[in-house]
Amino acid sequence: MNRKRQSKHLIVAIDGPAGSGKSTTAKELARKLGYLYLDTGAMYRAFALKVLQEKIDPDDETALNRLAEQTQILLRPDAGGICVFLDGKDVTDKIRTPEIDRLVSRVSRVKAVRDRMVELQREIGKNGGIVAEGRDIGTVVFPQADVKIFLVASPLERAKRRLKDLRAGGIRISLEKVLADIEQRDEIDSNRKISPLKKAEDAVEIDTTNLSIEAQGEEIYNIIKQKGLHFR
Ligand code: DC
Repeated sequence: MNRKRQSKHLIVAIDGPAGSGKSTTAKELARKLGYLYLDTGAMYRAFALKVLQEKIDPDDETALNRLAEQTQILLRPDAGGICVFLDGKDVTDKIRTPEIDRLVSRVSRVKAVRDRMVELQREIGKNGGIVAEGRDIGTVVFPQADVKIFLVASPLERAKRRLKDLRAGGIRISLEKVLADIEQRDEIDSNRKISPLKKAEDAVEIDTTNLSIEAQGEEIYNIIKQKGLHFR
């Protein structure tokens, strides 16, 4: 069989709430497939950082609209994942703080912000060969994606994972606070009017509560193979 003739640059969409294992799994899968890794949450986080720096009221839609038009966000692949540039400055280390965690869901409710991000994301993924992770990838950004995965995990397990990441970054915070932040973010992300966090009808749901990172990656890789999709 001629594999080359069958090969296609797939779009793999991985959605789910905070701490469900999207980033680790998507990054590893992209590496395995030789694909581009698109972390759409990082884009919303970079925008939230600008809102913070410019001291804009996150409920002022007019100001957010204006800001979205004037903001450049760029993602550059790097050995450990991606580097995030906000208006030309590397902000990779500044976007994963509890302060941004709290702000990001509020600013990502706004239509103009989402329109701008989705436009950038579609441009990045237009030729396929991409593993994109977020909240609305399978439902809105790439509804034509070849593979759609929806990851879930218990809130406590997700909070423990997030706490580990924050502590690794030198941030001191309690598990209770992280859990409360996660639950609040779930609430806003799932109930917003535009592009809420939702499983696409044709997505495969995987509960990662008791799965290792390797097992998660393996499961998704097997789903791609079972669909008979070739990627090289
Ligand atoms: O995946 P993350 O935790 O880095 O995402 C941060 C926030 O960005 C999330 O709480 C909601 C928003 N987001 C979104 O609205 N749509 C996406 N596709 C990705 C993230």
